[in-house]
Amino acid sequence: MGIPVVDFSKVDGKERADTLALIDHYCQEWGFFQLINHGISEDLLDRVKKVATECYKLEREAGFKNSKPVQLLNQLLENNSNAKIENVDWEDVFLLSDENDVEWPSKTPGFIETMKEYRTELKKLGHKVMEIMDENLGLPKGYIKNTFDGGVENTAFFGTKVSHYPPCPHPEKVNALRAHTDAGGVVLLFQDDEVKGLQMLKDGVWTDVQPLKNSIVINTGDQIEVLSNGRYKSILHRVVPQTDGQRRSIASFYNPSLKATIAPAPPLLGPEVENKASDPAKYPKFVFGDYMSVYLEQKFQPKEPRFQAVKAV
Ligand SMILES: [Fe+2]
Repeated sequence: MGIPVVDFSKVDGKERADTLALIDHYCQEWGFFQLINHGISEDLLDRVKKVATECYKLEREAGFKNSKPVQLLNQLLENNSNAKIENVDWEDVFLLSDENDVEWPSKTPGFIETMKEYRTELKKLGHKVMEIMDENLGLPKGYIKNTFDGGVENTAFFGTKVSHYPPCPHPEKVNALRAHTDAGGVVLLFQDDEVKGLQMLKDGVWTDVQPLKNSIVINTGDQIEVLSNGRYKSILHRVVPQTDGQRRSIASFYNPSLKATIAPAPPLLGPEVENKASDPAKYPKFVFGDYMSVYLEQKFQPKEPRFQAVKAV
């Protein structure tokens, strides 16, 4: 069991139509699938794994040992408490984006160069995945990317979260990452080859996103749900702590610019019948920055109220 796997090389061959249909099905029914033969070289992926692990050892591990989740867990154990830690995650995480590139970890040899090369490749893969979604949804080529750019070319947000989940002696007392849906557009995740922990909710059942060496997991965020008028849905997922093994997780987010306006795509609302779209918009039209303000307050709560709370334009 696990999530579906797509041989992405087939989108460029004679099985293109079948592969696109599969991807459309997985977007509608799963919101999570993983790509093999995606075109990112094994050499680059091996180097990314190496520098990310070295970076954690050299620049992050000491800090984690004194971090809030570790302190809170130690307190619970000292007090023999049966309580569970609910507001903190057993996770070390930092963000790499073009905007914060002076803050990227700088002590690990090769880290910055390798991660820049990786991000360039992942961004291209993100474009390709979004163009397939355009085609599957019947939208003009580039519709999702242009919407995320908000009318100013190449201003969509692209960020990479590098996370490590160290082994946890009491996984029953803390979450590694609480359940949430992702706020933005398309997420491209390079997860650990061996250490599991990520689960997505499929038909009410927590399902493992199974480690598969050098694959890239794709999942869709809240803005793809809005833009597709609910045909594609963002899906709850979480990370469960593991007692053995340290999980590495490198998630790249292709999100709208904070200034971009997001709404159900008009071509998906059907023809007008008696002055009304035949398939009415199920979501409001809003500015993504306003949505993020709501999301930052409500990330770990159900998503539906966020669409009500955001200021409509
Ligand atoms: Fe997430």
